[in-house]
Amino acid sequence: MGLFFNAILISVLALSLPFLSSLKRTNSLSTGSSLSSQDVLISKPHGNFTAGFFRVGENAYCFSIWFTELYDHGNYIIVWMANRDRPVNGKHSRLSLLKSGNLVLADAGQFTVWTSSTQSNSFLQLQLHDNGNLVLSNIDGGNLWQSFDCPTNTLLPGQSLTQNSVLISSRSLTNYSSGFYKLYFDDDNVLSLLYDGPQRAGISWPDPWKRSWDNGRSTYNNSKVATLDSWGRFQSSDQFDFITVDYGPGIQRRLTIDFDGNLRVYSLDMASRNWKVTWQSSLQPCKVHGICGENSLCTYAHETGRKCTCAPGYKIKSQKDWAYGCEPDFQLPCNDSNASGFLLLQNVEFYGYDIGFFSNSTLDNCQNLCLNYCSCKGFQFKFDNDNGYYNCFPKTNLFNGYRSIGFDSPIYLRLPQSMLTSFDQKPLQQTNLKCTADVVSLNRAYQKKGQYGWVKSFLWCTLAVGAFEIICFFTYLFKTRRGSSARKQGYTQVATGFRKFTFAELKKASRNFSAEIGRGGGGIVYKGVLTDDRVAAIKCLNEANQGEAEFLAELSTIGKLNHMNLIEIWGYCVEGKHRLLVYEYMEHGSLAKNLHSGRLDWKKRYDIALGIAKGLSYLHEECLEWVLHCDVKPQNILLDSNYQPKVADFGLSKLLNRGGTNKSTFSGIRGTRGYMAPEWVFNLPITSKVDVYSYGIVVLELLTGRSPVEGRSMEESTSAMEPRRLVTWVKEKMHAANGRASQTAIGKIVDPAVSAEFDVARAEILVQVALQCLEEDKDARPTMSRVVDTLLHQESDEY
Ligand SMILES: *[C@@H]1O[C@H](CO)[C@@H](O)[C@H](O)[C@H]1NC(C)=O
Ligand SMILES: *[C@@H]1O[C@H](CO)[C@@H](O)[C@H](O)[C@H]1NC(C)=O
Ligand SMILES: *[C@@H]1O[C@H](CO)[C@@H](O)[C@H](O)[C@H]1NC(C)=O
Ligand SMILES: *[C@@H]1O[C@H](CO)[C@@H](O)[C@H](O)[C@H]1NC(C)=O
Ligand SMILES: *[C@@H]1O[C@H](CO)[C@@H](O)[C@H](O)[C@H]1NC(C)=O
Ligand SMILES: *[C@@H]1O[C@H](CO)[C@@H](O)[C@H](O)[C@H]1NC(C)=O
Ligand SMILES: *[C@@H]1O[C@H](CO)[C@@H](O)[C@H](O)[C@H]1NC(C)=O
Ligand SMILES: *[C@@H]1O[C@H](CO)[C@@H](O)[C@H](O)[C@H]1NC(C)=O
Repeated sequence: MGLFFNAILISVLALSLPFLSSLKRTNSLSTGSSLSSQDVLISKPHGNFTAGFFRVGENAYCFSIWFTELYDHGNYIIVWMANRDRPVNGKHSRLSLLKSGNLVLADAGQFTVWTSSTQSNSFLQLQLHDNGNLVLSNIDGGNLWQSFDCPTNTLLPGQSLTQNSVLISSRSLTNYSSGFYKLYFDDDNVLSLLYDGPQRAGISWPDPWKRSWDNGRSTYNNSKVATLDSWGRFQSSDQFDFITVDYGPGIQRRLTIDFDGNLRVYSLDMASRNWKVTWQSSLQPCKVHGICGENSLCTYAHETGRKCTCAPGYKIKSQKDWAYGCEPDFQLPCNDSNASGFLLLQNVEFYGYDIGFFSNSTLDNCQNLCLNYCSCKGFQFKFDNDNGYYNCFPKTNLFNGYRSIGFDSPIYLRLPQSMLTSFDQKPLQQTNLKCTADVVSLNRAYQKKGQYGWVKSFLWCTLAVGAFEIICFFTYLFKTRRGSSARKQGYTQVATGFRKFTFAELKKASRNFSAEIGRGGGGIVYKGVLTDDRVAAIKCLNEANQGEAEFLAELSTIGKLNHMNLIEIWGYCVEGKHRLLVYEYMEHGSLAKNLHSGRLDWKKRYDIALGIAKGLSYLHEECLEWVLHCDVKPQNILLDSNYQPKVADFGLSKLLNRGGTNKSTFSGIRGTRGYMAPEWVFNLPITSKVDVYSYGIVVLELLTGRSPVEGRSMEESTSAMEPRRLVTWVKEKMHAANGRASQTAIGKIVDPAVSAEFDVARAEILVQVALQCLEEDKDARPTMSRVVDTLLHQESDEY
């Protein structure tokens, strides 16, 4: 109800504030005339866009173009602004088309804030077109100036980004002035996203550590032009292109560089009157550079997308703005290397700003290296899998920091010895921004006191009450928009190494699909050898009946997922009715095949449980595009040469059935008897907790060696009943031990094949985790990242 009230309040504010008096609508502005803040230009012929003075603060206006219709719960979507960094006074400010042919925006008649710098002796007209382009033209139809040539943060369909233009994000959701992220063609002709912050700058997209061609970009075409067309295809002269997930005609779209550094295409969903994200450049919000400023860490947060925290020992610089990051809360003397020590942070990466790169290093060497540089703030200590040794990256700055379960190298932060002890086992401090951070208050000169005094006081009061709510509402809006759109986002950029195969190629590679290695999950899997001698698993999907564009859009999302505990996808094939996926081949096959082989000792089993959890956690939580697996079972967990698990078949529920977490949109139940959560049976909403449940079963199976589907009369029992028998059996055994997790109680549960070597503490943790995952109530089950934390904690206690 509070929300409803908010919505009404916001709508009232949004409607009343920009236009206090009744607006004068016109269709064009001609030489010698001007627009005041009470006038608006309406686009011709349908009126899709409006241009006029848009209120950005208290008596602060920017001449802007926006979608005429109110979308997104009552806020206007601005597509262009004339000098957004210099708002003008609400009264007496004018946009004038001078006799000289110049279009001039002047603040309260005094000084010029913006001009089109045009000249003409002939009669001119300024008109807003239905595609959102504001055009200054002469009688013959010749264009002197158009807003499409100087975009702000948005490209509309048909509008080109060229070598002369750049998209710059806004400062924040409520502050429209120029922000820190820029999209432009760099000197190498590559379309790039630059973070240009108050402290540092750097390319953030495409991946700066790769060469252009590894990112699929060409540096040879210097025409430098990129356009989003009306069907939703984006094409750039550097060969970057994508289509939106809703590719097709008749949908209003816009490409916007958002203040959080992500480039997104939004499509207007007429049914809900909301803008939905249909493509975005970065699936992982924390990987956008500069997002939390200096000396801070970005962490994935389930509801809000991301969360910033200061690195231990550092404190936030500006309570209002994370862009300024954090500053040290200590001083380190340079001449005394004994004064500093190191704090270990697991799964944290700070990108860039290396003093150097030192291969085959030891921890001691690396520490000494860092201590010898006065400016060294810490070092990344990374295991090099290819060479089998550690590399050392001492850092002069702690920037672009993020914490991710997918990143398995630690960082060692340099801190005063005196401080180190206080961080023992203490979780990272959370700092929240003050809620008033973005309250828009901008006072302009030339305010006249006068007859509207009471209106103003009323407005001030409303504002004071409303400002807080606005902020909170916007925050809410932002969150929900992210949340609800998350599942619909797609991505068609083809990731590195991820390629399209022809059917003939795959047919040849698999020798006419002769070597079948598995079945299920919507298709048959064959073994094959690619032309570059890599051994691959080729899966032919059998019920994919969606269009090619949709398939590609979904697929490229999956292709972008990259985690050591997820099976790697090398490519795909779409030809006619054929839909094939090409995966890396796992020599040890599935967990199901290995479980009773006697090859899985106790340590391997624990590692497998942990690895699966990491993979699923990444799927569920680290990509904005939450992917539910929906079919977690030992057959879908493959083991590599070191018996490290890799989850396979993920994302297939997306490929086979587009759409949400609503069970009725899945064509039939997905999943396998024995591993399915009760939600499937009781027709409850399907969330990531279905995978948590299945994971619980798999862990019990790993522990006990007992399959949830063995036993009697499987045909008759409902699918959700079977796992319960296994759960009940485990609970009974634990119960019999009267809660004391004794060696004997656990010993009765653990698979006899490993009962000689298991360790009680770990076994106990596994049982606990599994039973939690198997709660009937989905909300009582932990998230996968919690599971990872629990299992990791146990591990670090041991070593
Ligand atoms: C403007 O709106 C009309 C009616 O809503 C629509 O048919 C038309 O395609 C729109 N024009 C553009 C250029 O988006
Ligand atoms: C360069 O890009 C433009 C626009 O995408 C395209 O029309 C042109 O053919 C390209 N030139 C070359 C040499 O590839
Ligand atoms: C640091 O401590 C070591 C051993 O305690 C000592 O030998 C060395 O002189 C100290 N260095 C400085 C700069 O104080
Ligand atoms: C380091 O320098 C400061 C001032 O320059 C001095 O007071 C201090 O004694 C020095 N410490 C060592 C260990 O040399
Ligand atoms: C790494 O360093 C160690 C000790 O310095 C050396 O024995 C080893 O051969 C090195 N490894 C490689 C791959 O260079
Ligand atoms: C918007 O951000 C700019 C740059 O940080 C700042 O100067 C300006 O005061 C802000 N405007 C408002 C209305 O908060
Ligand atoms: C594959 O099948 C085709 C006929 O369908 C046959 O001509 C070809 O020799 C076969 N190739 C192999 C490697 O078996
Ligand atoms: C699920 O989808 C159906 C039809 O598509 C719809 O009627 C129902 O309200 C949806 N349920 C939820 C929980 O979203």
